[in-house]
Amino acid sequence: MTTLTAFVEREQSRLLADLSDWLRIPSISAQPEHSADCRRAASWIAGRLERLGCRVQTIETDAHPILWVTGPEVPGAPTVLCYGHYDVQPPDPVGEWISPAFEPTVRDGMLFARGTADDKGQVFCVVAALEALKATRGSLPINLRYLIEGEEETGSHGLTDLLTREPERTKADAVLVTDTNMIAPGRPSADVALRGIVHAEIHVRTLKADLHSGLYGGAAPNAIETLWHLLEKLKGEDGRIRIPGFYDRVTRPTAKELKAWRALGVKEKGFKEEAGAKGLIGERKFSFLERIWSRPTLEVHGIVGGYTGAGSKTVIPAEATAKISLRLVANQRGKDAGAQLVKAVKRLAPKYAEVTVKVFSTVDPAQTPLDSRPFEVMDAAFREVWGKGIAPIRSGGSIPIVPLLQQRGAPVVMAGIGLPDDRLHAPNEKLTLDQLWKGILLFARWFEMLGGR
Ligand code: BES
Ligand code: MN
Ligand code: MN
Repeated sequence: MTTLTAFVEREQSRLLADLSDWLRIPSISAQPEHSADCRRAASWIAGRLERLGCRVQTIETDAHPILWVTGPEVPGAPTVLCYGHYDVQPPDPVGEWISPAFEPTVRDGMLFARGTADDKGQVFCVVAALEALKATRGSLPINLRYLIEGEEETGSHGLTDLLTREPERTKADAVLVTDTNMIAPGRPSADVALRGIVHAEIHVRTLKADLHSGLYGGAAPNAIETLWHLLEKLKGEDGRIRIPGFYDRVTRPTAKELKAWRALGVKEKGFKEEAGAKGLIGERKFSFLERIWSRPTLEVHGIVGGYTGAGSKTVIPAEATAKISLRLVANQRGKDAGAQLVKAVKRLAPKYAEVTVKVFSTVDPAQTPLDSRPFEVMDAAFREVWGKGIAPIRSGGSIPIVPLLQQRGAPVVMAGIGLPDDRLHAPNEKLTLDQLWKGILLFARWFEMLGGR
């Protein structure tokens, strides 16, 4: 490890400059006008892996390319499949950034830019670990496979198709997913469960066209009003979702797991502060950790309709749309929950309104084992670098490809080096640089120990 540490110390400023170059490329997968940027971001990281002696195949999809990376053959060594994504979420609201989203800036030992923690910084960390191994040992200790996609933030459709068509690509002895975070600074952890997600859009039409709200108001149906009543019927103020059958397959964590969560010492007060909220909401019966980790939920992400310009306009809007998502937990299934949602909305829709529901994508929840050798080796690597072993935790987030990877049999380890306050998808996303430097050692040691050294 001392030679690895020396490598990181020596190369720090170059690595920071390199990562910043990558972060400057606005690889926003959701916005078609950034397609070329997504491609540039893919080829940027492909170039680095090629310089390490890896073979990189660029696989086209309907959206952005997937990189399939194969390391030099190491006879007798285990095969390790790593996963990450080069696409990022839109930077909006852009005015809220202290320094622009695509101009990486260091402040107080943290690197600020879109994609620092989610997920370019984490992919870069693994690639830098491979570089460190190459520099200190001359070769890699494992047979590397690396899947780096550009559609994670939009549902991983291309990657799901590829791995369904070509299942042999997921053959490995261990899978590493570095798209997650630790529970707190100085507190190593690994996710053993993720929530699933159903993305949907509800559209309401109540009139042929907008109407004068004085001449028609009180009798003509308002699309926004219809939409809010509908949303209210889908999720109550008590945080409970009223979609029939929705909770049928929801299971509670074991008493042992719940006890371990209490022992984590993460307090509601700290969570509230980190969220920047005056108070928390949701199902009272459950602790806030249960609410974000092991309970399903429904969120409204955006509502469009009516007049929102300057001054006032007295109008009854004819149309309104809401973008929503459901988060799912253990044993729920994305497809089933999507179908339940569509059915519930159809049933709740008043006769006078045309209501349509579009389900964009569904992702199953995932659970990964704690007792695998790759997990144990990660625990040992954390002990070396952080001086502390892993606390198994869950995350309320979703990573669309993980359920498929997990089903294929190789143990999946979800151990990212992000922190809870990294502000993923939000303004001023950051990566704490100390996490990056330690993370390089962590992944390098994990690869080495898996390879038997
Ligand atoms: N990396 C996140 C998910 C995540 C964050 C998992 C922290 C565990 C810990 C991922 O990029 C993400 O944001 N996923 C989306 C899902 C997608 C289908 C839009 C999400 O969870 O909203
Ligand atoms: Mn991510
Ligand atoms: Mn994300």
